[in-house]
Amino acid sequence: MTGPDACAAAWDPAQYLRFGDERARPFTDLMSRVPATDPRVVVDLGCGEGALTASLARRWPAARVTGVDSSAEMLAAASGHAVPGRVSFVAGDVRDWRPDEPVDVLVTNAVLHWVPGHEELLRRWAGALAPGGRLALQVPGNSGAPTHRLLADLCTSPEWADRLAGAAPPEAPVLSPAGYLGVLEEAGLRAEAWETTYLHVLSGPDPVLGWVRSTVLRPVLAHLDDAAAGELTSAYAAALRAAYPQRPDGTTVLPFRRVFAVGAREGGGPTGSRR
Ligand SMILES: C[S@@+](CC[C@H](N)C(=O)[O-])C[C@H]1O[C@@H](n2cnc3c(N)ncnc32)[C@H](O)[C@@H]1O
Repeated sequence: MTGPDACAAAWDPAQYLRFGDERARPFTDLMSRVPATDPRVVVDLGCGEGALTASLARRWPAARVTGVDSSAEMLAAASGHAVPGRVSFVAGDVRDWRPDEPVDVLVTNAVLHWVPGHEELLRRWAGALAPGGRLALQVPGNSGAPTHRLLADLCTSPEWADRLAGAAPPEAPVLSPAGYLGVLEEAGLRAEAWETTYLHVLSGPDPVLGWVRSTVLRPVLAHLDDAAAGELTSAYAAALRAAYPQRPDGTTVLPFRRVFAVGAREGGGPTGSRR
């Protein structure tokens, strides 16, 4: 792609948090399948604005929780959740991350769809787990959804192709649940994987546009000046309204598919968890 890298374009933590409850739900569902009782070393790769990372420290008060993210904007927001000695945030690319010590719980939530070839990372991260340690991941599996297809159609339309053909949302490098199950099992973990399509009931005007502003639309707009960004956004909003019609009660349903996987390394006690 030309211009700004799809993920490196500035994140807006406030816009991201506008749908905080809906975005937290898959994290909660993912972590409900991580039964560790007293982990010491917990890492959240691609931690974002840190609220969910901090929730891990509340669940496991004896843990040292570290969030890693490459976005300066997200890390600035996350710094408000730091707790000396317990919760810290560091700048870094998850592709380069290497632990200083074996990890009891490694979480990566809504990150790996930005990272092509992440199967290799999962193998490496599985090898970084302590006996009984867990690796938990969730990725959006919605790159075939109208939100993405309509934006790609606009980017490649005659009106925009000269500026945006290279910025059209690519097919995300996301595996099926069976694909992640295979990767984690081949890495020596006892694994499970599943998918869920959430039906988010959103309110307010153009709520689907509001949702994608902090995700798939963000890197596209980074290619345009303000006037052109406004024009593209209007055309996209109209297409989204047709694809996700407002219901008589004023709400709009956004179906959102997500893929989950959790793997556990053997050892560490009767439940398979180290602690
Ligand atoms: C959709 S947000 C998810 C944030 C958080 N995990 C959550 O569930 O709220 C994706 C985050 O992944 C980060 N990210 C994407 N690719 C990354 C990479 N290669 N290295 C580090 N962080 C990355 C982004 O900066 C962003 O904060």
